[in-house]
Amino acid sequence: MTSPVRLALLGCGTVGSEVVRLLHTQSADLAARIGAPLEIVGIAVRRIGRDRGELPVDPAVFTTDALDLVKRDDVDVVIECVGGIEPARGWLVEALRAGKSVVTANKALLAEDGGTLHDAAAEGGGDLYYEAAVAGAIPLLRPLRESLHGDRITRVTGIVNGTTNFILSAMDATGAGFAEALEEATDLGYAEADPTADVEGFDAAAKAAILASLAFHTRVGAADVHREGITEVTAADVISAKAMGCTIKLLCIAARGVAADGRETVGVRVHPAMIPLTHPLASVGDAFNAVFVEAEAAGQLMFYGRGAGGAPTASAVLGDVVAVSRNRLAGVRAASESAYADLPVRPMGEALTRYHISLDVTDRPGVLAAVAGVFARHDVSIATVRQGSGGGGVAGRGEDADLVIVTHVAPDAALAATVRALRGLDTVRSVASVLRVEGGA
Ligand code: NDP
Ligand code: HSE
Repeated sequence: MTSPVRLALLGCGTVGSEVVRLLHTQSADLAARIGAPLEIVGIAVRRIGRDRGELPVDPAVFTTDALDLVKRDDVDVVIECVGGIEPARGWLVEALRAGKSVVTANKALLAEDGGTLHDAAAEGGGDLYYEAAVAGAIPLLRPLRESLHGDRITRVTGIVNGTTNFILSAMDATGAGFAEALEEATDLGYAEADPTADVEGFDAAAKAAILASLAFHTRVGAADVHREGITEVTAADVISAKAMGCTIKLLCIAARGVAADGRETVGVRVHPAMIPLTHPLASVGDAFNAVFVEAEAAGQLMFYGRGAGGAPTASAVLGDVVAVSRNRLAGVRAASESAYADLPVRPMGEALTRYHISLDVTDRPGVLAAVAGVFARHDVSIATVRQGSGGGGVAGRGEDADLVIVTHVAPDAALAATVRALRGLDTVRSVASVLRVEGGA
């Protein structure tokens, strides 16, 4: 058989240790599929002495010097399962410029500075694959990067963070508040000790940037993504959503659009939103991920599965290792980054969306007219108004009343200005909640 493809693994935690296990248990099949065996020549970690359970690998391959490992001449492919921006960026640039192929699960780095990695890959002539970086086990990036390259993608809408989907699903199922649902997610091991990246939407924003870059042939970075997390979502919001036949999800939405001057643009945003129960993403529960892709010729496509966890993520990593290894043996490299369209990123204010607004108001004549006047002055059309129906926590309370207003589609800037103006009305005691409504309910 041909000489082995030699692998350097950076990181041997949740994902990296499962990569080692899968490489061992599938070794014969992987060798047959690639046409050469895979051999781990080094594993870089932070703490050599850490208990990693029964790992089927020679302890002598462990090192704490990742940079030294990626520089070695006997390394063909670098697999990065560490995460973070630095020092991972330095290691991967070094490896790629030296002509090695790289497989990485590092969405934060790709979203922060993917261009540098792609440029280094082009310079060195190796491959850069990162299927595991978005939606774990779900084959999603390869379809966007290859299968759909004959089509024109118009919109990508996804649930790409398992932790927040678990929390919102728990709030929907049990009526729990955010803090209680987060505690459950932590107890079950879904949420990390510091859940900020998940609950504040940073993780989903990084994935949204990667998806938008591939879908629209444009470099989109994390800084281009409008981001809101789920910490402000309340049990009352969940009840209101149910009353509308909706559920609340943390969505990533990347869509083509047209600017006022007629130029095509791309808009990318992450925020909680109500979606109708009839929408394909509404039934995605627990910690699952799903991504809904709309393309001109293909129509609507849905990708669903496990978006996190050691083994599911390692499955995606191994798929990439097989692909880059085959390419090396064949002496070819995959198509480079496709960023030729270079579309300008649309400001969030121009995004077209709908709002669901809950107001605490003074219950006296003329209040509704005053509120409606604010919407009219901002050119925002009201679709429905409810007061005192009881269903969504909406009830007349003597001198006060709760009003729930749902708008028609309008630019986000007009909707936000409307909410600011409502806050200034003396008859509006408070704006209890504001949520976007997506998906055509
Ligand atoms: P872990 O924290 O479990 O593992 C990180 C690994 O990196 C550990 O083995 C750690 O060493 C090692 N490491 C940290 N710093 C250094 C350093 N300076 N030099 C060498 N090694 C270092 O992370 P995960 O496995 O969860 O995540 C890895 C990557 O995969 C991240 O980019 C993450 O975003 C991505 N990912 C993770 C998913 C998941 O479900 N966990 C899903 C999809 C993507 P030591 O073991 O000694 O501490
Ligand atoms: N923290 C992430 C999630 C891991 O909850 O989805 C997968 O990227």
